[in-house]
Amino acid sequence: MGIESSCDDTSASVIYNGKVISNVVANQEIHAKYGGVVPELASRAHQQNIVPVVQQAIEQANISKNDLSAIAFTRGPGLMGSLLVGTSFAKSFALGLNIPLIAVNHMQAHILAHFIEDENAKIPPFPFVCLTISGGHTQIVKVSNHFEMEILGETIDDAVGEAFDKSAKILGLPYPGGPLIDKYGQLGNPKAYQFTKPKVGDLEFSFSGLKTGILRFIQKNVKENPDFIQENLHNICASIQHTIVEILMDKLKNTVKQTDIKHIAIAGGVSANSEIRKRLLFAEKHWGWTTYIPKFEYTTDNAAMIAIAGYLKHLNNDYTDISVTSKARLKVTE
Ligand code: KG4
Ligand code: ZN
Repeated sequence: MGIESSCDDTSASVIYNGKVISNVVANQEIHAKYGGVVPELASRAHQQNIVPVVQQAIEQANISKNDLSAIAFTRGPGLMGSLLVGTSFAKSFALGLNIPLIAVNHMQAHILAHFIEDENAKIPPFPFVCLTISGGHTQIVKVSNHFEMEILGETIDDAVGEAFDKSAKILGLPYPGGPLIDKYGQLGNPKAYQFTKPKVGDLEFSFSGLKTGILRFIQKNVKENPDFIQENLHNICASIQHTIVEILMDKLKNTVKQTDIKHIAIAGGVSANSEIRKRLLFAEKHWGWTTYIPKFEYTTDNAAMIAIAGYLKHLNNDYTDISVTSKARLKVTE
């Protein structure tokens, strides 16, 4: 079983021989009205959700808890209060069932979601490059083995998910705004407005300047026409999305040039984005890349990815001691 509680989703999943047999995710609606995740509220909601979510995952898998052979949990990175709930639960559960405990790195798990066995699964060969794009991270990772990863480049300020969410907030959209920018953007003209792309190193990202650019653009136009956002929402979203995805694709092109690795995967919440998916399929068709796009349900935070990472560690007898502690900061390489 995998247990995920790093941010605002409480999730439990049962995996058998690499195949997901249940994956229950409880989202926390409470944060929407605050325009972002409130850590204190997140840990309280995890505490309420964790027992029913674990019970449901066991029921949906049609097994008994005594059939479980190991418990994997997210050790970090994430919000400390949220991590503590999953970590403490997993420790007690493993101890009670007298089965091994497995600590999983959330960022590695996003990448390892590509190894979930599925009818249509396309499993990447080593080495491959993974663009990890989430609410907290934006990294280009070279994956040489399941647990051998190297960061080739990352953001020097905001994560790409934050760029989506903060842009959405400027437009008055609720949190998390990424999926809404995607939804409205699909109905608009991506070239309606131009935003300046950041000038940073070949494999580096920066999104804070873009956010300021969007804010200034909106402020200026709203001053001239108070209904500017409502009247042009689809075009604004399409143009923001286009700029962000252009930045991501530029960096992937630089990576392919530098590493000569053409097996390109994406992972993390933002890999649910329809535009990046489209652009990768284009690259596969026209540039000779082989692209790996996770199933929609394994993009945003979920426990199936923790379970597959745990399963791979289980095969290596890579267990952890009961004295293990949560870590709010943890690199993908740790
Ligand atoms: O991986 P994730 O669920 O949580 C973190 O570990 O951060 O990623 C959440 C992020 C949010 O910023 C959310 O707005 C973004 O993923 N996201 C999207 C889409 N779906 C989720 N961004 C753009 N387009 C989407 N379709
Ligand atoms: Zn995540």
